[in-house]
Amino acid sequence: MLVLGIESSCDETAAAVVRNGKEILSSVVASQIPFHEKYGGVVPEIASRKHLETMTPVIREALGTAGIPLHDIQGIAVTQGPGLVGSLLVGISVAKAIAYVCGLPMIGVNHLEGHISAVILENSVPEFPFIALVVSGGHTSLYEVKEWGRYRLLGATRDDAAGEAFDKVAKLLNLGYPGGGVIDRLSREGRADAFPFPRALNTKYSFDFSFSGLKTAVLNHLISRPSPPQRDEIPDIVASFQEAVVDVLVEKTFRAAESLDYHSIVVSGGVAANSRLRKKMQERGDREGIAILIPPSSLCTDNAAMIAAAGNHYLEKGCTSPLSLNALSRWPL
Ligand code: KG4
Ligand code: ZN
Repeated sequence: MLVLGIESSCDETAAAVVRNGKEILSSVVASQIPFHEKYGGVVPEIASRKHLETMTPVIREALGTAGIPLHDIQGIAVTQGPGLVGSLLVGISVAKAIAYVCGLPMIGVNHLEGHISAVILENSVPEFPFIALVVSGGHTSLYEVKEWGRYRLLGATRDDAAGEAFDKVAKLLNLGYPGGGVIDRLSREGRADAFPFPRALNTKYSFDFSFSGLKTAVLNHLISRPSPPQRDEIPDIVASFQEAVVDVLVEKTFRAAESLDYHSIVVSGGVAANSRLRKKMQERGDREGIAILIPPSSLCTDNAAMIAAAGNHYLEKGCTSPLSLNALSRWPL
């Protein structure tokens, strides 16, 4: 089955053509970062306007690169939520228009299910059941996955998402937006044990996360210094912050796997592009005999191939959404 995936939940306009939910024929991502950067975060109104301008060229490029004419596409998968409603509506409207004109089945996809499904695009299929950690700019959630479509939420952040914490700490240090990639790079030159930042809720009894206290701890550290940190002092600060985030993510994810006696862990979402998180997950997986599956970094951050992969699970079973499909700003998985 050839599926056209469409993603516009936040600040990436993306389209992809994926064969049988696995093989990426094309994946085009147009980032809006340059338009939001100066505001230090995503401005919803700008996001929806940019999606509107970019969506058609991006879809055209995805079809062109794949070498697949629109009339050969067999289904459309579009992000229905969670996300910014104005942005989601752009993707949904174009998906509906194509589905109606070409008489194609269409399915609305949960963005978080998309992140988890990214793993099947390049990796081998994980063995069910498995634990999934979705860690992005808007979410930090742990799931038990029995099969595609059957998810049980084990825990989630009570305040900031991990990616949000990266972005806020980067903002405190004037490192630009988004902060994850730059903190990842700078941390390689820093000492991860330079500052003992807190590991919140790191108890046996909870699979929930909390990152706002950590962000405040970094702020308090900056305030308590006699002078702002020099350029060469920043790597130690961000490496210590990153280590605190990674430690908690790794610890809780493995604890979830141990408590359910599962032997596969999938990690995805933008923060799963983090090199330290990938390394520590892999090392512990090797030690404990647990398979760790993390999509390549380009498939961890928002893209439409993952939406096509998730939609394929449903479309191949004949499940479709009606043309009355609406955007959902919140949609728990
Ligand atoms: O999944 P995503 O592209 O969008 C959402 O669904 O939120 O995730 C974006 C988030 C941002 O907060 C960004 O700072 C973070 O992922 N991120 C990273 C890295 N690359 C992106 N965080 C840590 N390390 C990275 N290398
Ligand atoms: Zn995402």
